[in-house]
Amino acid sequence: MSQRGRFITFEGGEGAGKSTQLRLLTTCLLESGHDVRVTREPGGSPGAEDIRKLLVEGEPERWTPLAETLLFLAARADHVARIIEPALAGGAWVLCDRFADSTVVYQGAGRGLGVGSVRSLQRHVGDVRPDLTFILDIDPRDGLMRTHKRGAAENRFEKFDGGFHARLRESFLQIAREEPDRCIVVDAGRAQDVVAEEIWSHVKARFA
Ligand code: TYD
Repeated sequence: MSQRGRFITFEGGEGAGKSTQLRLLTTCLLESGHDVRVTREPGGSPGAEDIRKLLVEGEPERWTPLAETLLFLAARADHVARIIEPALAGGAWVLCDRFADSTVVYQGAGRGLGVGSVRSLQRHVGDVRPDLTFILDIDPRDGLMRTHKRGAAENRFEKFDGGFHARLRESFLQIAREEPDRCIVVDAGRAQDVVAEEIWSHVKARFA
């Protein structure tokens, strides 16, 4: 039986560069001979990708905060059971673009459902705890500028106001303060290769 794999998540506000950093870390891990499975939320399994469309497209007020949270959790339940858990059990390193912290932050702090309520809902879904989480921290104004340049269609959350995005940043930093053994805050306002180098050195140090 192979050893259980490692589970690493990337978190942060809009335009923090998670996807780029996830890709760069994947390259480093593959070059080191690891089996890597890259995935994302919302999505990552066929059913969860269907739910994703309902969540990331359309107008901000399309869903109530509670209905929105339950959709994220339904997507996660499928993704964890069908993709993440089997990959970890098979010994793969699973790198996930956003995970449970995003729900606590976006729905709990951003949409105002309350961090405690979201955490208690999550306990019923049976979350898997990441071994390591990178929180890519950037001033939301700079992050949103990057996403506007990108011109994505999946921009429902970008349309929430500045106060929403400021709450997200503070809430991610609060999680990092509460769980310093799991979370590493990275200054994502710097050049991509500098950020990537820092992330790679943390991974090497943590899983030497
Ligand atoms: P993502 O694909 O990571 O978009 P981006 O690369 O633009 O950050 O995530 C899609 C959106 O879904 C993003 O705006 C954050 C939001 N989201 C939540 O609100 N709650 C969640 O639990 C997750 C996983 C994502």
